[in-house]
Amino acid sequence: MDSARYVTDVPYARRYVRELSPAWLDFTALICGFQPPPRGSGFAWCELGCGHGVTPALLAAAHPEGRFIGIDLMPQHVEFAERLCREAEITNASFQAVDFAATQALDLPRFDYVVAHGVYTWVDASAQAELLRFAGRHLKPGGLLYLSYDCLPGWAGDMPLQHLLRVLTERAQGDSIARLDSADKIVTALQGLGADVLRLGAMGREWEELRGKLPPSYFVHQFLPPAWKPLYVTELRQAVSGIGLTPIGSATIRENVDAFTLDRPARELVAAASDPDLRELLRDYLLQKRFRRDVFGRDVPALDEATVRARICGSTFMLSHPQDATVPFNHPSAQALLALLEGGAAAPIALADQGHSIDALVAQIIALASAGRTWPVAADPDREGIERVNAVLRRRTGTPDEIAFTMLPSGMAIDREDR
Ligand SMILES: C[S@@+](CC[C@H](N)C(=O)[O-])C[C@H]1O[C@@H](n2cnc3c(N)ncnc32)[C@H](O)[C@@H]1O
Repeated sequence: MDSARYVTDVPYARRYVRELSPAWLDFTALICGFQPPPRGSGFAWCELGCGHGVTPALLAAAHPEGRFIGIDLMPQHVEFAERLCREAEITNASFQAVDFAATQALDLPRFDYVVAHGVYTWVDASAQAELLRFAGRHLKPGGLLYLSYDCLPGWAGDMPLQHLLRVLTERAQGDSIARLDSADKIVTALQGLGADVLRLGAMGREWEELRGKLPPSYFVHQFLPPAWKPLYVTELRQAVSGIGLTPIGSATIRENVDAFTLDRPARELVAAASDPDLRELLRDYLLQKRFRRDVFGRDVPALDEATVRARICGSTFMLSHPQDATVPFNHPSAQALLALLEGGAAAPIALADQGHSIDALVAQIIALASAGRTWPVAADPDREGIERVNAVLRRRTGTPDEIAFTMLPSGMAIDREDR
């Protein structure tokens, strides 16, 4: 792929994306009533457009029983990921510096999980089709596909801002960051002169503040890819149905429970629509959604309610970092769960013999996860692998190779500043 199709002169931010972990995807499947991929005898996981490979490398360190593969167009991203794995002695992650279109020639296994975060709506139609073809070829029956993307109608207000940035940067000089800076000067000046159409969307309204807060590479990769185009959920679902996959749910946990996001009249209006894709579209209009984390599956078995409840109670959770207690929980089972997790990652089932019903534990852990108070995490992460990665991450602090994350004993990685 050439630079006319994607921004390749500015490396992408190095980050760990927690929603891509097997534990998180399994929990998403469970709360939607589906069986997570069986992982008893190991599993295979692949990230398309893996950037610097931080997520696959860190997951691989915590999961020696899994095989992790990252695919990315930019050789410098892949080289960075390979060096990280060498230094941290991670032997179960490997990387390929190829365009999605070239993956057909690779000898790759079938995967239990295929994930692509922040990629789909930033690449052109042919790369989107290649990405889906890969998932169609390589996802096992019972496997999960995670796709995140910018969506409409939430982005509608910012479309004039995005268009202007693209036009201005195309005509400016220098690398992507220099071109963005010169475009930004004109955008800011126009805003100051009353071009309020540039303040219609969430991004435009806080433009100056966000430019000061987020790194320039974020804006380059958000606004400059020539193919960037947000999609309606119905469009995305139609494309994914073409490879034989069906919707499972959202890796943004709260979006799976209407009661947490919609009031009663809105819920009634959504429920009255007979088509599930239309219901999802109506939710997006009500919530003005601009980013979705959709999970799809190939022939994923549905589970009965008792099995779902038992599996959720047996799953492992930790308290999120930093704890945001703005949503108070006064249910005794929620308070007991929070107290349990104060002592470290644990499964809700530990409270079952203390007078809490399975129903209450399940309802409250879903509510806590939806409110961002708890995160699903691995049941038995490899402590030695985690320590080896942390030693490398500490050594790199303050160097050009810094990755500003640290791994917790639960296998979750958090921004070092949130510690
Ligand atoms: C916005 S970044 C997201 C990186 C990572 N998933 C994350 O969220 O941190 C998109 C990545 O997709 C890669 N990419 C874009 N088009 C591609 C293609 N056609 N084939 C392979 N990789 C591609 C880019 O090099 C870039 O690293």
